[in-house]
Amino acid sequence: MAKKSASGLSQKQKLQIVKIITHIGALLPLILLYIDYYTYNLGSDEIRAAILRTGKPALILLILSLACTPLNYAFGWKLLLPLRKPLGLYGFLYVVVHLAIFVGIDYGSDIVLAWEEIVRRRYALVGFASFLILIPLAATSTKWAMRKLGKRWKTLHRTAYLAAILGAVHYLWLIKQNYTEPLIYAAILAIFLVMRYEPIKKKTIELRKSVKKRFA
Ligand code: HEM
Repeated sequence: MAKKSASGLSQKQKLQIVKIITHIGALLPLILLYIDYYTYNLGSDEIRAAILRTGKPALILLILSLACTPLNYAFGWKLLLPLRKPLGLYGFLYVVVHLAIFVGIDYGSDIVLAWEEIVRRRYALVGFASFLILIPLAATSTKWAMRKLGKRWKTLHRTAYLAAILGAVHYLWLIKQNYTEPLIYAAILAIFLVMRYEPIKKKTIELRKSVKKRFA
């Protein structure tokens, strides 16, 4: 019989609940965007609103995907680990929609014109670099690719940090005032990156275990 915790739920049941919340939460911005588009609630500049409302979830979902491992080190929340993949893939989905709106709608599918704009603006260029890094990550997110790539899979998927950092730089460079939000994202990413460093990782896990022992 499955082991049950104090909440009366087994680990499997808890994971299912967390997964459902993740899927709903990740799809919600897209659903709301769709509703607002069809109810003419995107304001006077619909295209810009749609670009902004896909860019932010893209970055947040990528950061959340990268948060799972360090949060597990710090708090022992193993339940978060299976969420890394869906969160990362949803982040990529938003990036694709973000770029599709930019090229397909904003630039009327004129790829040459859109490309000229991308290379002309440094914020768009780093955004594009982030997108390029995410493509092989999404393509190798299957169990089959994981088996085939072996140790190289982990090395490749570490570049997710670079993709998210470039996403934060893209955000930082495109805004003209109030840099607080992108700087917060960059700081969070920096903390997660430091926590992946082996000696810091070990210390974090030791600290969690000693705190747990003390309060057990
Ligand atoms: C693929 C190349 C990309 C292009 C061409 C692009 C283009 C844009 C444009 C035109 C804007 C709106 C600028 C404005 O009018 O103020 C924007 C905003 C934004 N993009 Fe991108 N982007 C790209 C990739 C990305 C990626 C990979 C991410 C995240 C990882 C991202 C996250 C954001 C964010 C957070 C915003 C600001 C949202 C807000 O202010 O609420 N973008 N992007």
